[in-house]
Amino acid sequence: MKLSDATALVTGGAGFIGSHLVDALLQSGARKVRILDDFTAGRNANIAHHAGDARLEVVRGDIRDRDAVVKCLAGADVVFHLACRGVRHSIGNPQENHEVNATGTLTLLEESRAAKIERFVHVSSSEVYGTALRAPMDEEHPCFPETVYGGAKLAGEAYARAFFRTYGMNTTVVRPFNNFGPRSHHEGDSGEVIPRFVVWAMNGVAPTIFGDGLQTRDFIYVADTAYWLCRVAESDALTGKTVNLGSGRETTILEIARQVLQQTGRTDLTPGFAEPRPGDVRRHLADSKLAEQTLDFRLRTSLGEGIGHLVEHFRGHPEGPVGLLRDLQSRNWK
Ligand SMILES: NC(=O)c1ccc[n+]([C@@H]2O[C@H](COP(=O)([O-])OP(=O)(O)OC[C@H]3O[C@@H](n4cnc5c(N)ncnc54)[C@H](O)[C@@H]3O)[C@@H](O)[C@H]2O)c1
Repeated sequence: MKLSDATALVTGGAGFIGSHLVDALLQSGARKVRILDDFTAGRNANIAHHAGDARLEVVRGDIRDRDAVVKCLAGADVVFHLACRGVRHSIGNPQENHEVNATGTLTLLEESRAAKIERFVHVSSSEVYGTALRAPMDEEHPCFPETVYGGAKLAGEAYARAFFRTYGMNTTVVRPFNNFGPRSHHEGDSGEVIPRFVVWAMNGVAPTIFGDGLQTRDFIYVADTAYWLCRVAESDALTGKTVNLGSGRETTILEIARQVLQQTGRTDLTPGFAEPRPGDVRRHLADSKLAEQTLDFRLRTSLGEGIGHLVEHFRGHPEGPVGLLRDLQSRNWK
């Protein structure tokens, strides 16, 4: 399918990755983009730059609310499913995390099938793998999630694959690795490592690392993910398939702290260490060969460049460094 001229529903479209996907869809000439988001973690500020663009419709609602889902699907050709509750939320709220990430996905799949949606792109997560048993990790790597979040995301993607096999619905499962960039969360239990380090450094506070800092992640820049999600939707070759999106580069959290301190001009600060976060995976490194072969996937933005964009984003933030720091809890799980 071609996205230019399509009507797209983006669940979680006011969130971090979702709002970049909305940018990419509107830039690529989509006829209409509808967001369904309950704004638990989404922000108006993430999509405010589209105010006045009649092609964008924002619906405040919950993917667990079947009536809201049915209304949002009216006239849609393609669904990008990103709405979810996060990994740290799952530690203190396993049941609700499951209800949104697994049962909510099932509701959306059922109603998308009834609405005869042409393409359903299910955004899962590298967290379904658990820690790397071998690296790099291709799509055949075993899935042993360490958290309820990872388990619920795995259930959601299993339902998306089942809808392809049982009903012939055109679903594709995407497993992005760790995303970073502007609009990423520093606050509350949504707070991710790179934005937290930036906000701390901007306030002259030494970053806290949970564990020894030698745990690794594969970081991909958020606008790159948004771009490749659009390409996934356009690809016939990926229908019914599961595909990784990662950089193929493994970076320790200590190295992230070093780069952030350098780019914020705070090399005088030394990271501190605290006890590891429960369910924190030890090692992640993506093998994105399937995406390379089917989409001509390649990295468009390097880690260093992306951290630079994030630092710039926070420097221009209306809340200012002190305001940003107020929303940041060091130990951000229950
Ligand atoms: N950020 C990452 O590094 C990363 C990595 C891999 C996969 N993902 C996946 O990408 C997707 C987006 O993640 P993100 O990082 O942008 O997170 P996010 O929290 O910024 O986005 C999720 C959005 O879903 C909304 N939402 C939550 N519960 C909802 C509900 N019941 N009904 C409607 N909307 C609801 C939130 O308000 C938020 O805007 C998720 O599915 C996540 O699993 C993220």
